[in-house]
Amino acid sequence: MKPEIRTHPNLEDLSRAAAEYICEIAEGAIKERGIFTFVLSGGTTPRLLYEELAKEPYASRVDWQHTHLFWGDERCVPSDNPDSNFSLALQTLISKVDVPPSNIHRIPAATGSAKAVAAEYEKTLREFFQATAAGDPSTSFPSFDLVLLGMGADGHTASLFPGDAALEERTSWVVAVEGSSASPPVRRITLTLPVINEAKWVLFLASGSNKLKVLREILNNPDTGIYPAAHVRPAGKLLWFIDEGLA
Ligand code: 6PG
Repeated sequence: MKPEIRTHPNLEDLSRAAAEYICEIAEGAIKERGIFTFVLSGGTTPRLLYEELAKEPYASRVDWQHTHLFWGDERCVPSDNPDSNFSLALQTLISKVDVPPSNIHRIPAATGSAKAVAAEYEKTLREFFQATAAGDPSTSFPSFDLVLLGMGADGHTASLFPGDAALEERTSWVVAVEGSSASPPVRRITLTLPVINEAKWVLFLASGSNKLKVLREILNNPDTGIYPAAHVRPAGKLLWFIDEGLA
């Protein structure tokens, strides 16, 4: 299915539009299945979106009691490190809304070797999806309601980097990656493509002219294999929220 592109004058407008869309997805998921499973992304782009979701009119539209938060990837740094994706969400969103702590399923990135953390998070996800109505245990991958993603100027998404073996993973739900080419160059934990592509909705947020060349390539030549973001082709709906600098 071709992605839907939504272009906005700037990151502020893009973030408000994405917040509105996420509220609609959340309302529909909870009405239909009593639960909204939301995978957060990291980096800098989603900061404004998280701040928008934490205030009116969006904060009271989301039923946080039935919303479960997950992460698409995490850097292997302590959670008080500013590079932590959990820390970004905690500061801008989680600390401001009444999401129950038991609904927050963070990647315990600083608790051990990256490989052990990846295995631990996969176990957490398997237990969650077997225990709730959210997933269908008969399928080999969980179906999150919404996976939020960003894209780097090299076309990476989550912590799936060009040429990395993690891109080829077709069995595990969560893997560790070296991240030596990333910024910051630290080990990371990431959801794999089969999990991302099982989502009912995938929303990319992209802003900044440094991503223009790669984004155009991905949208115009989707079979361009070298960019990980081009491999995101979900079973459900794919939308790109971009600013005019990228249109
Ligand atoms: C991460 C992110 C990553 C991010 C892109 C874009 O942990 O780094 O998950 O995939 O979305 O690198 O980052 P910016 O939003 O900072 O451009």
